[in-house]
Amino acid sequence: MKRLSVLALFISASVLVAADDPKVNPRQATYTKEIKPMMDQSCIGCHGKDGKKPKGGFNATTLEGLEKGGKEDGKGITWGDPEKSSLYRLSYLGATARDEEHAMPPKKSKSEPLTTEQLAKLKAWILAK
Ligand code: HEC
Repeated sequence: MKRLSVLALFISASVLVAADDPKVNPRQATYTKEIKPMMDQSCIGCHGKDGKKPKGGFNATTLEGLEKGGKEDGKGITWGDPEKSSLYRLSYLGATARDEEHAMPPKKSKSEPLTTEQLAKLKAWILAK
């Protein structure tokens, strides 16, 4: 019995490691390491934090939510095409054209827009197929 649970522990640990292994799933690994922290910093205050109803129907707390996007501007992520990804487009506006209607975070909010470096990382992540 004890051996069995040790084995079970080992297997579940390996599965966890595999999900985070860049060679196994680079998209997921980059999400966890680079993208999620940006969303936590600049976006989730209005997009799903603490189970609150996300604004515009856009949930920024999970990878699935990022892919899906919100109600009006199409898919959050079209892999390989940042311009067809509202996640990128609206974040870009938020950092460079704050007066635009859908710039994210909105101009009047206290959240920090993404930095140039963060935008570049986001773009590269979406571009990598
Ligand atoms: C202060 C609150 C606030 C913050 C912070 C914020 N947003 Fe929003 N977001 C909104 C509101 C309100 C809407 C719905 C109205 C609109 O689209 O302008 C929205 C809508 C969206 C949508 C859906 C657009 C659609 O209808 O398809 C996306 C995508 C989005 N935000 C991305 C982001 C990203 C990315 C960040 C962080 C860089 C962010 N938001 C930060 C308030 C916020």
